Amino acid sequence: MRRKLAAGNWKMNGLRRDLTEIDALLALHPAPQVDLLLCLPSVLLLEGAARAEGHALTIGAQDCHHRPAGAHTGDISASMVADTGASAVILGHSERRDEHEESSEIVRKKARRAMEAGLTAVICLGESLDEREALNTLDIIDGQLSASVPDNATGLNLVIAYEPIWAIGTGLTPTLEQIGEVHDFIRTRLERRFGPGVGQAVRILYGGSVKPENCAEIFQVSNVDGALVGGASLKADDFSLIINALEASV
Ligand code: 13P
Repeated sequence: MRRKLAAGNWKMNGLRRDLTEIDALLALHPAPQVDLLLCLPSVLLLEGAARAEGHALTIGAQDCHHRPAGAHTGDISASMVADTGASAVILGHSERRDEHEESSEIVRKKARRAMEAGLTAVICLGESLDEREALNTLDIIDGQLSASVPDNATGLNLVIAYEPIWAIGTGLTPTLEQIGEVHDFIRTRLERRFGPGVGQAVRILYGGSVKPENCAEIFQVSNVDGALVGGASLKADDFSLIINALEASV
């Protein structure tokens, strides 16, 4: 069975002093029954990874460049991320697809680099409200999934996060039926492309306004293997309640 995963995404939030939240989280969850991942701003990776070392918490980045090294001012490579002690990286988040015009083709190149550097790529997919209302959510997800995921994906180096754009930071969430429809669809597509072994092993997270109040019912939905949490991952006390709910769903 797939091990559940509670992942946090701090986005562009947090200063060094906020890394005490990691200590608080570790104190609350010394031996978690699920995998824990916290994706930090790049300047906090080194210190965050040092704090998490030896504990059941993995640190991740929120992006990396698609080339291994060179003249790319302001960017960081996958091997630089790995060198900090981080072991995962979010790729293709809708905020990057939008604000940095990242295409699924670029996301696939980044994911390949990340996997070559030994990182787990957490690849984000999701439809806009217009796309949802035009009834072509599954077409959008299908296109993003096939173009963003590289051929060398495995159950260890790939996690998929379904994050409907209209649910991110809005307090809105899809119905449980809508979440289940998309997660089942992603599972079927992964199995068809990679075979049942890899297709069954990849974790599929739900993201978009996951809170302590709504997470327990979301975790009951088929093929929801955990959550990618934004705002509610910033404070250990909030994130801890979500972790507790995920553990209770196992
Ligand atoms: P919120 O949980 O703040 O809606 O953010 C979701 C998200 O984008 C996680 O990557």
